[in-house]
Amino acid sequence: MKLVSAKEMLDDAVRGHYAVGHFNLNNMESVRAFLLAAQEVKSPIILGVSGGTAKYMGGYRTITDMVQDFINFLDITVPVALHVDHGKYSEALDAIENGFSSVMFDGSSLPIEENIEKTKEVVRLAHAKGISVEAEVGGIGGEEDGRISRGECADPKQCKMIADLGIDFLAAGIGNIHGKYPADWEGLHFDVLASIKEQIGDLPLVLHGGSLIPADQIKEAIRRGVAKINVNTECQIAFTEATRKYFEEGKDKESKGFTPRAVLAPGLEATKAMCIKKMELFGSIGKA
Ligand code: 13P
Repeated sequence: MKLVSAKEMLDDAVRGHYAVGHFNLNNMESVRAFLLAAQEVKSPIILGVSGGTAKYMGGYRTITDMVQDFINFLDITVPVALHVDHGKYSEALDAIENGFSSVMFDGSSLPIEENIEKTKEVVRLAHAKGISVEAEVGGIGGEEDGRISRGECADPKQCKMIADLGIDFLAAGIGNIHGKYPADWEGLHFDVLASIKEQIGDLPLVLHGGSLIPADQIKEAIRRGVAKINVNTECQIAFTEATRKYFEEGKDKESKGFTPRAVLAPGLEATKAMCIKKMELFGSIGKA
């Protein structure tokens, strides 16, 4: 199975009232974990690659080849999109040239005119190759790859301006934050979501910062048109907790427990289990 654009899977999700999970890659173990999870429960999946991960894992071409080779090696038959997460303009172009099947251009920190111009160009270049495009309006709070922005709510009129450029799905801030949510977090702003939806119609909406949001809010967001939910932090925590337990139980001291593959195995399994748990919540199980 070849990597696919995320457009069709998200249009299907809007029609079917569920969401497809976007899971961030961090290392080789995460590639294995997410592909095996999606295959086991027959769910479509989007694998996200931030700028930091692209640098760590050897650049976009290396990641494309690694993911495609794993798909072949593991006999993965469910749809898999390989997607740039919060790409700068140069990163989006790099990924388009190097085999990604989907890109996000995040121009949310730029003046809206510049966001429009650059998004338009990314759409032109990506669509010429059948690659889907996500754009963003309104910063998403928290810290990612050293960039910090406060949780904002996107302006619905600006959402329409960006949606009209022919993008395939839109990320818009509705009070969501990357990483852990503060104790005094106000929750998702469903009134803003409703106003955005009014402006953009059936265009799939993306919810970033999908970790640690209460399940009832996730379900309500999906009911109101969110079709892609990005998860990173909860999978990272699952990996790290399982790894810590391995050492705390002294497993590295038993037999060949010191080998890197043995050390990383519990984290891989925990990442896979978390991915399946999220797919269950998002309603994407059995949709592939
Ligand atoms: P979390 O790390 O909060 O799950 O957010 C992930 C994300 O939105 C990636 O774009």
